[in-house]
Amino acid sequence: MADTRGVIFMLLILLEKLLSTNSKVVLSDVNVTCIVHDDCILPCSFRPTGTVVIHWYKQQIPVHSYYYHKDQFGLQNKHFSGRTSLFNSHIPQGNASLLLRRVKVQDKGRYKCYTSTRKGNQEMFVNLELKAPVQSVIMEVNDATVTCVSHNIYPMPQVIWATDPPSAQETLENSTIRTTDHKGLFTVESTLRIVGNLSNLTYFCSFISADKTQVWTASRKNQDLTQEEGRPLSIPCSAPRSLQNFSLTWTFASSSEPTLIVRYDNRTRHTVNLWEGQAELDQDLLLQGDGSLLLDKPDSGEHSGTYSCTFSSSQSRHVVQTEVNITVASISRGEKSRRRSWWSTAASAAFVLFTVIVALPQCARQRETRNASHRHNGTRLAESGLELHKDSNPSASFETGRRSTQRHVQPAPSEARDEQPGCVNKTAERREGASAPDCEPEQETRARELEKGGSENVESELYLS
Ligand SMILES: *[C@@H]1O[C@H](CO)[C@@H](O)[C@H](O)[C@H]1NC(C)=O
Ligand SMILES: *[C@@H]1O[C@H](CO)[C@@H](O)[C@H](O)[C@H]1NC(C)=O
Ligand SMILES: *[C@@H]1O[C@H](CO)[C@@H](O)[C@H](O)[C@H]1NC(C)=O
Ligand SMILES: *[C@@H]1O[C@H](CO)[C@@H](O)[C@H](O)[C@H]1NC(C)=O
Ligand SMILES: *[C@@H]1O[C@H](CO)[C@@H](O)[C@H](O)[C@H]1NC(C)=O
Ligand SMILES: *[C@@H]1O[C@H](CO)[C@@H](O)[C@H](O)[C@H]1NC(C)=O
Ligand SMILES: *[C@@H]1O[C@H](CO)[C@@H](O)[C@H](O)[C@H]1NC(C)=O
Ligand SMILES: *[C@@H]1O[C@H](CO)[C@@H](O)[C@H](O)[C@H]1NC(C)=O
Repeated sequence: MADTRGVIFMLLILLEKLLSTNSKVVLSDVNVTCIVHDDCILPCSFRPTGTVVIHWYKQQIPVHSYYYHKDQFGLQNKHFSGRTSLFNSHIPQGNASLLLRRVKVQDKGRYKCYTSTRKGNQEMFVNLELKAPVQSVIMEVNDATVTCVSHNIYPMPQVIWATDPPSAQETLENSTIRTTDHKGLFTVESTLRIVGNLSNLTYFCSFISADKTQVWTASRKNQDLTQEEGRPLSIPCSAPRSLQNFSLTWTFASSSEPTLIVRYDNRTRHTVNLWEGQAELDQDLLLQGDGSLLLDKPDSGEHSGTYSCTFSSSQSRHVVQTEVNITVASISRGEKSRRRSWWSTAASAAFVLFTVIVALPQCARQRETRNASHRHNGTRLAESGLELHKDSNPSASFETGRRSTQRHVQPAPSEARDEQPGCVNKTAERREGASAPDCEPEQETRARELEKGGSENVESELYLS
């Protein structure tokens, strides 16, 4: 019913058109460019005088109609179904613009806006252009090729290659494959053959939109670094050009999947560092686009591997991949362990000596003092504490030699009682009838433990290196 009414109305319009050609106004085309998948407005206006008939066509295909004060979908092509509307509340003011939702590549073309009022008819034409800008470019490097891929682009972009330092254009042999999907969007894959020795270069591939308004660039550099362990190492990574807004990510991989080291956002100036204390970025250099990573004390076992630095911005992505080889320090392992064991032997010998010469007599004296103070009252105890403290002073000259023994020897004034924990505890336990020999084995065990601990340390360090 509605259909026949529509057809009759169309015929009436046709008749009207034929009769009133003298009042028809033809305006020049309007160009509109919309982004694929977005909503799009095709502009059209008329001089409002009472009731109006509006018809939108794409070539001869009915897109949208409006008469009897409402939208009429009877003749609409199903390609447009559910995607069109007018700004109905603005029609009385002469606005006949069409809203086309979720535009597709296939919507591209010339549209006619036909309006008819009592005062006459009008035709306006709108050229709809569509584009799907490059969202991102993925660059991959193999032994002999560098490949850049990007999906869902329209229209076909141009791909150009470059290197830094520059290479002659003839050496940059490139081939580009273009494929179209069912939506009419392109996938572009460009491959550069590495001719000759082009290692240590930065490779750039740029996807340039057909209208030249957009350039998306992916770039990459591979480099190797060798450093002796224990020395600070700066792994260089700079943005190839000044970037307004960017994020920087450092990852590390040795045998397993890459893990995050640090991430920095230039807009918020926020840094997330998962290697706090081992690695850092220089905040001042960052503002100048230098994202070099500083390793404070690289270790050959822990820090050798692949470091990837990625600068991401809205239209570019720059990756620097560095193979870092942290070598064992120049003193050979044998020498190192021999030196360490010499030190630990010397330290334990010194400790035993100390025990025999200083601690033992002191221990005995202490026991006597305590026994005495136990027999007498509190004032004596305070005095003996002072005495003990004074007595321990001669050991100060020994302390300077070895740090590990310091803990046992140097008493804080308030800790006088804890000076020789083994001895004091023993005397505290057996105040009555405790004897000097009780202290002696305790001290010896400590010395042995210390020696053992020392060699364990050497072992664990060797295991790490
Ligand atoms: C619209 O684009 C066409 C080419 O597609 C051009 O010839 C014409 O001048 C453009 N019109 C306007 C108004 O820019
Ligand atoms: C019609 O109205 C819409 C919505 O307010 C507006 O975006 C558009 O520019 C108007 N068009 C004309 C030709 O006035
Ligand atoms: C790569 O190929 C395109 C054509 O596919 C060509 O125009 C261009 O000059 C080539 N070389 C470089 C360096 O982009
Ligand atoms: C490329 O050059 C570097 C140094 O100039 C060299 O170490 C490397 O072996 C070369 N690679 C090839 C494949 O020739
Ligand atoms: C690679 O580049 C770095 C600095 O950019 C330089 O120090 C090094 O010598 C280069 N290596 C080769 C093999 O050219
Ligand atoms: C950078 O970010 C700021 C704030 O988000 C924005 O106003 C500015 O337009 C951005 N600049 C570029 C070049 O994208
Ligand atoms: C981001 O870095 C650029 C230089 O690369 C600098 O000009 C800009 O001020 C930085 N933005 C912020 C918020 O630090
Ligand atoms: C690291 O460097 C050392 C010494 O130059 C070398 O013997 C070793 O093979 C290198 N390791 C790797 C993984 O390149």
